[in-house]
Amino acid sequence: MKRVLILSVLMCTLFFLYSFPSGVVAQNQPAPNQAKVKEFRIERSIPKEGIACIECHKKENPGIFTDWAHSRHASANITCIDCHRAEEFDPDVSKAHFKQYERSDQPYGKPEYKVPISAIVTPKDCSRCHPDEVKQYSRSKHANTLQIVWKVDPWMNKGMNSDNERTTGCYHCHGSIVKIKDGKLTADTWPSVGVGRINPDGSKGSCTSCHTRHRFSVAEARKPEACGQCHLGPDHPQIEIFTESKHGDIYASYGKDYNWNAAPGTWTPGVDYRGPVCASCHISGSGTVLTTHDVTERLSWELQAPLTVHPENFKPFPAKTNWKVERQKMESICMQCHSKLWVTNHFAQLDKTVQEYNDVYFKPAKKMLTQMYEKGLLDKSRFFDEEPEFLFYELWHHEGRRNRMGVAMAGPDYAWWHGAYDMKPKFNHFMKECLEAIKTGKPIYKYTFYPNATGDTTKPKQVLPQPAK
Ligand code: HEC
Ligand code: HEC
Ligand code: HEC
Ligand code: HEC
Ligand code: HEC
Ligand code: HEC
Ligand code: HEC
Ligand code: HEC
Repeated sequence: MKRVLILSVLMCTLFFLYSFPSGVVAQNQPAPNQAKVKEFRIERSIPKEGIACIECHKKENPGIFTDWAHSRHASANITCIDCHRAEEFDPDVSKAHFKQYERSDQPYGKPEYKVPISAIVTPKDCSRCHPDEVKQYSRSKHANTLQIVWKVDPWMNKGMNSDNERTTGCYHCHGSIVKIKDGKLTADTWPSVGVGRINPDGSKGSCTSCHTRHRFSVAEARKPEACGQCHLGPDHPQIEIFTESKHGDIYASYGKDYNWNAAPGTWTPGVDYRGPVCASCHISGSGTVLTTHDVTERLSWELQAPLTVHPENFKPFPAKTNWKVERQKMESICMQCHSKLWVTNHFAQLDKTVQEYNDVYFKPAKKMLTQMYEKGLLDKSRFFDEEPEFLFYELWHHEGRRNRMGVAMAGPDYAWWHGAYDMKPKFNHFMKECLEAIKTGKPIYKYTFYPNATGDTTKPKQVLPQPAK
C-alpha cells in the first residue's frame, strides 16, 4: 500500500516536471527537508556467464541456489556474478574455480562461460549498490573492533591464549584478518563472518553477520536471534537480559504476529510490532530517528568499558557523536510507546547505576591494583597469571557489565543477582587477597604452569592505525 503510494507520488512528480518548460526543470533539487530518494543500480538482463553460475550451482549446491532464489536480489535480477565476479589479478580470486570451466559432465562447464570469481564478497562489493549502509557500517565499532581488541585486550597483548583459541573463539565473533596462500583462503582465517573481519580489499566487516547468505533478509536481521549469536554469555548477556525483560516477554507471546517483512525503513512501532527488539532500539528507524548501520549511534555510555565514560571520551576509539544528542534519539524511540516521565526516570536509574559502579566498585579496586603493582606484590609483566588479576578482570568484565547492561535494558535479574549481588563477593575476595599480601609483604602466588599462553603478541599491520601521510 505504502509502496504503491510512493510510486504514484513519484510518477506524478515526474509528470509534473516533464510537462514544465526546461528552465523550471533545472531547479530539480530536492528541498532540504525532503527524504532522499534511494537509488539502486539494477542490471536488467543476466549475461550468459551469470546463467552458467545459476544452472551449475543449482545442481552442485541446491541449498545456495534455493536461498538466492528466495531473496529480494533474485527478484531484482541481481545474480551470483554481480557479487562474486573478480578481476583476474585480484589477490582473492579463486584459482581452483577456473577448472570448473573444463568439465565435460556439465553443459555449462565450458570455456565460453569462464569468468574469474572470488568466494569473498565484502562490504566494498555491496557498496556498489548499497553505499549508505556500507558508509554507516564502516564507522561503527562493529567494523573497527579488531583495532580496539588489539589496543585494549591483555589476552592478545600479553599472549595469554593460543592462536587457535583466538581463531575458534574471538575471531568468529570479532572477525579474522583474511589471508590467502597459494590462491586459497587459509584455514586459520576462513571461514569467519565476524563483524570486524578485515578483507583482502582492505574493507572491514562481513554483512552476513546479520543478513545470512543467500537470503540477505531484512526480516532475519531484525530478529533478536541475529544479535544473540554474539551478544550472550557471562560478559555481554544482552540476549538473556532482553529475554527476561518485559519487552522480551511480549516478543515471546506476540513475536510471531510482528510484521517482520515490512519494507526497509518502514518498520513502525505500534503498527508492525508491539514490543521492541534489539534492532528497534539500536538499528531500525523509528519516528523521526533514521535507520542506521552504526550501532554506536543512540548510545550515551560505554557500558562495556572498565570505567564507564561517554562514547566520545572512550580513548581507544572515540566516537564522533555527542552523548546528549544520542540519548535524545534513544529516548525518542522509547517514547513511541512510553510517556516522557517513564523514559526520563528509566535513564535516571541508569545514570545512577553508572555512577555507583564507577565510584563504589571500580575506582577503589583499580586504586588497589595500581598499589599492588607499585609495591611489587603483583607482577606487571603478564596479566591473568595471578589470582587478583583475574578477580579484578571479572569484576568489571563480567559482573560489572551485567549490572550496567541489566539496568540499561530493563532486566532486573541481571541488574541485581547476576550483577550488583555478584560484584560484592568478587570485590571482597579481591580486596582480601591484596590486603593480606600488603600485611605480610609476601608477593602474590604466580601461576607457573600457565596453559597455552603461546599467542603471537605482534600487532598485525592491518589493524595498526594508518601512518599519517
Ligand atoms: C560448471 C559448473 C560451475 C559453474 C559454471 C560455476 N561454478 Fe562455482 N563452483 C562449482 C563447483 C563444483 C564448486 C565447488 C568446488 C569445491 O567444492 O571445491 C564451485 C565453487 C564456487 C565458489 C566457492 C569458491 C571457493 O574458493 O570456495 C563460488 C563463490 C562460486 N563457485 C561461484 C560461482 C559463480 C559466481 C559462477 C558464475 C560466474 C560459478 N560459480 C560458475 C561449479 C561451477
Ligand atoms: C548479494 C550478493 C551475493 C549474491 C547475489 C550471491 N552471493 Fe554467494 N556469497 C555472498 C556472500 C556475502 C558470501 C559469503 C562470503 C564472505 O563471507 O565473504 C557468499 C558465499 C558464497 C559461496 C561460498 C561459501 C559457502 O557457503 O560455501 C558460494 C559457493 C557462493 N556464495 C555461491 C553463490 C552462487 C552460486 C550464487 C548465485 C546463485 C551466489 N553465490 C549469489 C554474496 C552473494
Ligand atoms: C548489483 C547491485 C546489488 C549488489 C552488489 C548487492 N545488492 Fe542488495 N539489493 C539490491 C537491490 C536492487 C535490492 C532491492 C530489492 C527489492 O527491493 O526488491 C537489494 C536489497 C537488499 C536487502 C533488503 C532485502 C529485503 O529483505 O528487503 C539487503 C539486506 C541487501 N540487499 C543486502 C546486500 C548485501 C549484504 C550485499 C553484499 C553482500 C548486497 N546486498 C549486494 C542490489 C544489490
Ligand atoms: C560470542 C562472541 C564473542 C567471543 C567468542 C568473544 N567476544 Fe569479545 N565481544 C563480543 C561482544 C558481543 C562484545 C560487545 C560487548 C558490549 O558492548 O557489551 C565484545 C567486546 C569485546 C571487547 C571490548 C571492546 C570495547 O569496545 O571496549 C574486547 C576487547 C573483546 N571483546 C575482546 C575479545 C577477545 C580478545 C576474545 C577472545 C579471547 C573475545 N573478545 C571473544 C563478542 C565476543
Ligand atoms: C548488526 C547487524 C547488521 C549487519 C552486520 C548489517 N546489517 Fe543491514 N540491516 C540490519 C537490520 C536490523 C536492518 C533492518 C532495518 C529496518 O528495520 O528497516 C538492515 C537493513 C538493511 C538493508 C535494507 C535497507 C535499509 O537500510 O534498511 C540493506 C540494503 C542492508 N541492511 C545492507 C547491509 C550491508 C551492505 C551490510 C554490510 C556493510 C549490512 N547490511 C550489515 C542489520 C545489519
Ligand atoms: C558476529 C557477531 C555479532 C553480531 C551478529 C552482532 N554483534 Fe553487536 N557487537 C559485536 C562485537 C564483537 C562488538 C564489540 C565491538 C567493540 O566494541 O570492539 C559489538 C558491539 C555492539 C554494540 C556496542 C557498540 C558500542 O559502541 O559500544 C551494540 C549496540 C551492538 N553490538 C548491537 C548489535 C545488534 C543490535 C545486533 C543485531 C541486530 C548485533 N550487535 C549483532 C558482535 C556482534
Ligand atoms: C528497549 C530498547 C532496547 C532493546 C530492546 C535492546 N536494547 Fe540494547 N541498549 C538499550 C539502551 C537504552 C542501552 C544503553 C544506551 C546508553 O548507552 O545510553 C543499551 C545498551 C546496549 C549495549 C551496550 C553498549 C555498550 O555501551 O557497550 C549493547 C551491546 C546492546 N545494548 C545490545 C543489544 C542487543 C544485542 C539487544 C537484543 C538482544 C538489545 N540491545 C536490546 C536499549 C535496548
Ligand atoms: C514498540 C513499543 C515499545 C518501545 C519502543 C519501548 N517499549 Fe518499553 N515497554 C513496551 C510495552 C508494551 C511494555 C509493557 C508495559 C506493561 O507492563 O504493561 C514495556 C515495558 C517497559 C518497562 C517495564 C519493565 C518492567 O519489568 O516492569 C520498562 C522499564 C521499559 N519498557 C522501558 C523502555 C525503554 C527505556 C525504552 C527505550 C529504550 C522502551 N521501553 C521502548 C513497549 C515499548
